[in-house]
Amino acid sequence: MERIAIVGSGVVGKATGKGLSKLGHDVVFVDTDPNVRQRLDHEGYKAVEADALAQVRPSMSMICVPTPNDHLGRQDLTSLEAALAEIGRLLPPEAGYHLVVIRCTVLPMVSEQCVIPALEHASGGRAGRDFGVCMNPEFLREATAEDDFLHPRLVVIGQLDRRSGDLLEKVYKPLCRQNDTPIVRTDLRTAEMVKYTHNLFNAAKISFANEIWLLSRELGIGGNQVMALVAASAEGMWNPRYGTRGGSPYDGSCLPKDVAALANFVRDMDYSAPMIEATLQINE
Ligand SMILES: NC(=O)c1ccc[n+]([C@@H]2O[C@H](COP(=O)([O-])OP(=O)(O)OC[C@H]3O[C@@H](n4cnc5c(N)ncnc54)[C@H](O)[C@@H]3O)[C@@H](O)[C@H]2O)c1
Repeated sequence: MERIAIVGSGVVGKATGKGLSKLGHDVVFVDTDPNVRQRLDHEGYKAVEADALAQVRPSMSMICVPTPNDHLGRQDLTSLEAALAEIGRLLPPEAGYHLVVIRCTVLPMVSEQCVIPALEHASGGRAGRDFGVCMNPEFLREATAEDDFLHPRLVVIGQLDRRSGDLLEKVYKPLCRQNDTPIVRTDLRTAEMVKYTHNLFNAAKISFANEIWLLSRELGIGGNQVMALVAASAEGMWNPRYGTRGGSPYDGSCLPKDVAALANFVRDMDYSAPMIEATLQINE
């Protein structure tokens, strides 16, 4: 069992730490907010300030701090940078090998261009030699966070190197065995991209449903029923890989024909349906 520091004990941190604690790991929560630490303490968990981590000597840190957007809508890494500086101080090469796991949602290349340089700078050590790095995106839903952590549908481990990924896989193995959940190992930037694409995929589906709902309303049709029936048919396609390959799947005797016909039908109504137009443009 590992001694694991959860750095940032909000929705994701609590679900992760409480879940790992249930699996038998020795978990210590870290948070800058004293109220958060106090609540966890009352629940019987160890919760400390970052400064106390040096005495705790965890073998692994999981970073779950916020990555909000700034006022221009760009990702703000201030909390992540602060957490990396705190953890980096734990990692002087003589302290032994340590695995740093990024659980926050970070844009592609952040692990390589921000996380690793910051940890090397703060610790004086070298990634891959003195410490490992994984990017392990979280797909939980806020309302059911703790339960979702314990019943994942997929675990994605973006790894700097094999040693990092092996260590994290060992932590997830019992959970994934219980739930029959696949563990997929990939590189850091793919794991980062998977998380954003996952959210964009959901956002695009919602946008599509909203567009269909509006268009249906224009036609005097109940859009909710249309989307419910489409979700039942298209989401449960016989081939689960359908539409997941880049380059060529927009083909066959039906898709281009039917999308073009619907696009022209909508244009003739003098109605704007940007998702339908974008579908044509992107696939052209
Ligand atoms: N909330 C979700 O449903 C969800 C799901 C998947 C991924 N995510 C991602 O996970 C990350 C964390 O999100 P969250 O919802 O758990 O955030 P949150 O706001 O609930 O919790 C973050 C916690 O980190 C603490 N913190 C901030 N800076 C810190 C520091 N330097 N050191 C220690 N603690 C610090 C805060 O006090 C807070 O308690 C974000 O990148 C988010 O996008 C969130």
